[in-house]
Amino acid sequence: MIVVLLGAPGAGKGTLAGALKDQLGAHHISTGDLIRAEIKAGSPIGLEIKRYVESGGLVPDEVVTKMIAETVKKTAQDKKGYMFDGFPRTSSQAADLDKVLKDYGLSIDFALYMEASLAVVLKRLTGRRVCRKCGALYHMTNMLPKKAGVCDKCGGELYQRTDDNEETIKKRMSVYNESTRPIIDFYKRQGKLKTINADLEAGEVKQALLKILNEQRH
Ligand code: AP5
Repeated sequence: MIVVLLGAPGAGKGTLAGALKDQLGAHHISTGDLIRAEIKAGSPIGLEIKRYVESGGLVPDEVVTKMIAETVKKTAQDKKGYMFDGFPRTSSQAADLDKVLKDYGLSIDFALYMEASLAVVLKRLTGRRVCRKCGALYHMTNMLPKKAGVCDKCGGELYQRTDDNEETIKKRMSVYNESTRPIIDFYKRQGKLKTINADLEAGEVKQALLKILNEQRH
């Protein structure tokens, strides 16, 4: 199964993919995670793209599409399927993803639009904490770790992403509205758009996707 997770920053794409990747056995590919790993490694490309992430802008299409093409190249043969999280984010990336997959005889099954209200996503982003070691996601009020500041899964330290501050969040939201929202229509035109209410709590959001996956199989 190949699924694209679409939605505003904070809609819960990473949380949903994290909750289902083991059950579905699909690769969870987050361009945000790939980009942050490059920045952390201090690679030449990481140094070049850091400023886009820190300002809340988008990393250039060709850089991100190359990352995706390389990841698909390494994994397409195992036929596990994919959950793309945070990619595509522009119309050009959406067209590129179709092309990359086509090279391996693959295509997207559906795009899941995680519709969330502004008040909810703002609260989620400002309260988000991430494990430095394993990337697990937490929230200061609705997904608390058992011990403050420590990951339940691996004991790693929890931190706040540098782009989760009010000013950068505002910029990310406007970039989302301008560049990413139009992709919803791209998948609607292809007859591949499914929509869920992402304001619901995480367990209900997961059930909504499982229901769609079941319907797809029958
Ligand atoms: P990226 O890392 O993709 O950030 P994003 O799209 O802004 O999405 P988020 O990770 O902020 O939100 P999410 O929807 O995954 O929410 P989450 O599950 O964490 O990208 C970062 C940057 O990298 C971009 O700004 C850009 O610069 C660059 N970039 C990335 N991809 C790119 C691309 N394709 N092209 C160009 N540039 C690119 O949840 C948020 C919080 O809410 C968590 O604390 C969680 O615990 C909580 N939560 C989640 N779901 C629920 C729920 N249902 N109920 C209660 N709490 C919940």
